[in-house]
Amino acid sequence: MDFSLSEEQLMIQQAAKDFAQNELLPGIVERDDAQKFPWELVEKMAGLGFMGMMVDEKYGGSGLDTLSYVLAMEELSKVDASASVMVSVNNSLVCWGLDAFGTEAQKEKYLTRLASGEVIGAFCLSEPEAGSDATSQKTTAIDKGDHYILNGTKNWITNGSSAEIYLVIAQTDTEKGHRGINALIVEKGMDGFEIGPKENKLGIRGSDTHSLIFNDVKIPKENRIGEDGFGFKFAMKTLSGGRIGIAAQALGIAAGAYELSKKYAKERKAFGTEIANHQAIAFKLADMHTKIQAARYLVYQAACDKDAGKDYSLSGAMAKLYASEVAMETAVEAVQIHGGNGFVKEYHVERLMRDAKITQIYEGTSEIQKMVISRSILKD
Ligand code: CAA
Repeated sequence: MDFSLSEEQLMIQQAAKDFAQNELLPGIVERDDAQKFPWELVEKMAGLGFMGMMVDEKYGGSGLDTLSYVLAMEELSKVDASASVMVSVNNSLVCWGLDAFGTEAQKEKYLTRLASGEVIGAFCLSEPEAGSDATSQKTTAIDKGDHYILNGTKNWITNGSSAEIYLVIAQTDTEKGHRGINALIVEKGMDGFEIGPKENKLGIRGSDTHSLIFNDVKIPKENRIGEDGFGFKFAMKTLSGGRIGIAAQALGIAAGAYELSKKYAKERKAFGTEIANHQAIAFKLADMHTKIQAARYLVYQAACDKDAGKDYSLSGAMAKLYASEVAMETAVEAVQIHGGNGFVKEYHVERLMRDAKITQIYEGTSEIQKMVISRSILKD
């Protein structure tokens, strides 16, 4: 497979790299400590067109392909996975879902604001008792004719308090199982919609993660995405693309940890020479480089499958599974290469190690990816 990049793709990659170095890197340790991501940086990412990369320009997006999105995600994630998850959720789960399945009116009302980055969105599937087992939705959306009444709690929602627009998955008819689930567009400020406390997390601490509580929230019928009962399929189809974004995030974390380690190993001396000259370190770098390159091929392949209109749920799941494992392994080795300095925040690798862990969990754990992969390869 030839992954030679077009001039436009190279420009996007460079723009993301420059933004990460010049805007995201300064203050990153403080943001991680304080669990805070400043809105000015979201505005700057919006200015660069990063918030609706795959959405048509007529709806406020950048009209780019998935490979360009993946390249930007990789570069942002090398430095700041808290920023990149915000970008990933807004692009893959919120904008893409609305673009692919929303009505014209929904696109005009919501997508244009989301894709331009005027506001950001959140994707609300997980619940206290429905994480991996996503069909076990307890949140209900009871059909009342021209509206639904929404009740329940969602957990671990990325962009939980900073979002303005929420795509909420809820059960309308329990007798129909997953075919009785709907996806509804909920706006911040609707009566009965409350944002729960912020989670205090191991990693991606700059991204705001909250539970959300819905108490008799009245949602007009025109806010349902797709036909009645399409909500679970909507979530699955949307997540198939989301997994490519998270795979790119994991790839970026791994590549960021590797680049810092290579630089450090060529500067730091021990036993009379740079530690890169010791085979114990050189071989670690060789393993990191090889695995990152293999992950990169899987991630780019999944993006190209999506761009070519091919099925990408298998290639996306493989990319996420492998890239997230490489991210974790590489980041742990990066801390080891940095020794005592690796344990100190200013050297950045301990944060990358903490950030890497979530890529094996959100948008489907590694075990869920193995379910998706094994079901796909065994079905014929
Ligand atoms: N595309 C389209 N349809 C799909 C699909 C896909 N990728 N995957 C499943 N479906 C369909 C099936 O065909 C089936 O439909 P029919 O009955 O009409 O054939 C229906 O959905 C139910 O599928 P399954 O029988 O396979 O359902 P299951 O209960 O066995 O579970 C699962 C499937 C893949 C394990 C699913 O539950 C899953 O993906 N779980 C993980 C959930 C997840 O990723 N959560 C992440 C939360 S979001 C997040 O993290 C965002 C964030 O903020 C960062």
